[in-house]
Amino acid sequence: MQIDVRPVRRLRESAAVRAVFPPVLEALAASAADLAGLRVVGDWIQYKANFRDPVMARPVLAPGLPDGEADSWEIAVDLRRCAAEGADVSGAMAAALAEAAPQAGGRDGAPSPAGDGRVWLEPWVPGSASLAWGFNALFWQALADWEKASGREYEQSLPGGETAARDTAAARDLILGLFKTWDELQARRALPEELYVLELGVGNGGQARTFLDEFLALDRRHGRGYYRRLHYLMGDYSPHVLDRARQAVGQHGERVSGLVLEATRLSGSVGFLAGKAFLVYISNVYDNLPTDEVAAIRGRDYLVQVRSYLPPGAAAAIAERFGMPPADLAPLIQRLLRIGPELLSESLPERFGDTGQAVLFWQAAWQALRQAERYVPLEGLDTYQVTPSVTGEILRPLLTAEGDVRMHVSNGTLASFADTLPLLHPFGRVVCHDLFTTAAGEYHNGFFGPGKYDGSVVNWVNGPLLALLASRRGFDVQFSPFTQRPGTHIKTLTAQVRD
Ligand SMILES: C[S@@+](CC[C@H](N)C(=O)[O-])C[C@H]1O[C@@H](n2cnc3c(N)ncnc32)[C@H](O)[C@@H]1O
Repeated sequence: MQIDVRPVRRLRESAAVRAVFPPVLEALAASAADLAGLRVVGDWIQYKANFRDPVMARPVLAPGLPDGEADSWEIAVDLRRCAAEGADVSGAMAAALAEAAPQAGGRDGAPSPAGDGRVWLEPWVPGSASLAWGFNALFWQALADWEKASGREYEQSLPGGETAARDTAAARDLILGLFKTWDELQARRALPEELYVLELGVGNGGQARTFLDEFLALDRRHGRGYYRRLHYLMGDYSPHVLDRARQAVGQHGERVSGLVLEATRLSGSVGFLAGKAFLVYISNVYDNLPTDEVAAIRGRDYLVQVRSYLPPGAAAAIAERFGMPPADLAPLIQRLLRIGPELLSESLPERFGDTGQAVLFWQAAWQALRQAERYVPLEGLDTYQVTPSVTGEILRPLLTAEGDVRMHVSNGTLASFADTLPLLHPFGRVVCHDLFTTAAGEYHNGFFGPGKYDGSVVNWVNGPLLALLASRRGFDVQFSPFTQRPGTHIKTLTAQVRD
């Protein structure tokens, strides 16, 4: 049996964390599970809202066996919740181990024929295809409805309670860097008339507003008339969010265009910018794009598949609160994700008296949403498509170097980044404030998502993988701490053509 404890600092420092292990070991010794093949993984899930139960069983499927046949099992323990006062570690362990024990089926983590009360919402899928992303997209499409019900703005749930992109000192440094590049090009008569900046993922427009306010003020001092040549393009997949951002940029309206676009497929929408963008400016978006996870377990590569569900107690409570049989929950959630809360309430007025009621149903479902997980063998990294143009081979150096490890593939980010690099002017840059891992080894001792922020999903981005992709395309990537906010986990990625 293997025991892998990731938050080693917490293990050293906290007696409460260490106290989780005796009941874990007792439960293991008492169970009928095949301990020889078992792995126990301890994480510290820092996101209070997340998709996991405090203890969960994950089947590791066997290569070459019929679909769903488990070779071995992993028991995942959230040390944060298990170390909390009153946590029933023994009970949670016993329930998880019952899934992994042969008499409970020992198959694929799906409910026994009689069912265990979970309300399953989707089949097994790679993480990037989960319906959790439907919830995420709905959050941005119907943000005002959500915020009205929650009484708080989404920005409050970002790291530090405010986006890094509204930091005026950071914006000023960025703009002065642009001015320097432009002055040099101007001196060589090589500066194009149109100066393009593209922002991806605009939220409430605070990032654009800060940039444009600072730009205007600095340009007045600098005196080269760059402001009137500036084209600031705001791109987002939510028309609602774009409207809001347009209002926020107010006086800069003439310099700004809004584009509805999918950040993971840019060539169609902003392909006209190829070779022209001096800055692609992104903040807190990459951590919000769909991702898979892969794992190396005992030297073999696996894709993590997930399956969303509502736990029995929560499902019963939601069904009772909204006056419906539990069997209606899954179809209603799927319908909500397709048409949004407003149309849901219009189409079912007897169940949801107004949009607000439908939003409460949405929030309750999101809060309760969990994901079961299983490991499915990858029959060769090249058979796994990371993005339409990148295969899993790109993962090889990171997986080979790290031994047994589980990491994000950051599929949405890689697709977006790969489409962004060709947009850059030879002297242009991508600047992105976000949550990045910067060494593959970090995955051995931390938890990097998924977590829930209000109604959206957060996953740290696999920085070394982005750097690999960029380097194969002739670009350099650097990560620097966001020095303007000491103690934050936010880092700034800068990508530009390699010298
Ligand atoms: C957390 S907000 C960040 C807003 C702003 N950049 C900031 O730092 O405050 C994420 C933004 O990305 C947008 N977004 C998320 N996924 C997207 C996608 N696949 N394509 C385009 N926009 C997306 C959301 O609509 C939202 O406006």
